[in-house]
Amino acid sequence: MTAFPSGEQLAPVLAAAPAADGEFVEITDADVDQVVELWRACGLTRPWNDPHLDIADARAGDTSTVLVARADGRVTASAMAGYDGHRGWLYYVAVAPGLRSTGLGRAAVVAAEAWLVARGARKIQLMVRTTNTDVLGFYGRLGYTDQECTVLGRWVESD
Ligand SMILES: CC(C)(COP(=O)(O)OP(=O)(O)OC[C@H]1O[C@@H](n2cnc3c(N)ncnc32)[C@H](O)[C@@H]1OP(=O)(O)O)[C@@H](O)C(=O)NCCC(=O)NCCS
Repeated sequence: MTAFPSGEQLAPVLAAAPAADGEFVEITDADVDQVVELWRACGLTRPWNDPHLDIADARAGDTSTVLVARADGRVTASAMAGYDGHRGWLYYVAVAPGLRSTGLGRAAVVAAEAWLVARGARKIQLMVRTTNTDVLGFYGRLGYTDQECTVLGRWVESD
């Protein structure tokens, strides 16, 4: 009987293998500008959020990341994921406009969920801007429901 290689044996092989088209993997330096371009094309950027800084912050620790899919070397979809020690959060779920309705959005969320669950998250949440009600049907298809919460926030940056 053929013995399957252990996860330990496979890990270096998998790390060295290039990601297959459509597979979600952690962002690399080479992806960053394309990801920002994708977010702009998807209408997800806002003047008060610096997308390069958001990516750098997400990559700075072990509990957050940006996952990307590529096709022919171009970034086609993304999801930012972060575990805060209580909940897992999704941000910047985006699919290139020409590639929507092909399952990439679902795949992005599923990949980010798996990443968060592997870090201890038992519940996953996300915020949808009140101006983006179109997307509620998408999240509904993926099992996300209104949590009947109001999100409050304030900037605490000091210079
Ligand atoms: C939202 C978004 C990521 C969806 O990506 P997508 O690749 O088109 O989604 P999928 O093809 O994986 O769709 C998954 C399911 O959701 C459904 N769906 C997708 N968009 C939908 C919408 N706007 N309304 C209702 N259902 C939708 C699909 O029909 C599919 O249903 P199925 O389970 O019957 O197959 C994409 O439209 C996008 O990038 N939008 C702009 C960025 C954005 O608003 N992101 C969310 C920020 S909170």
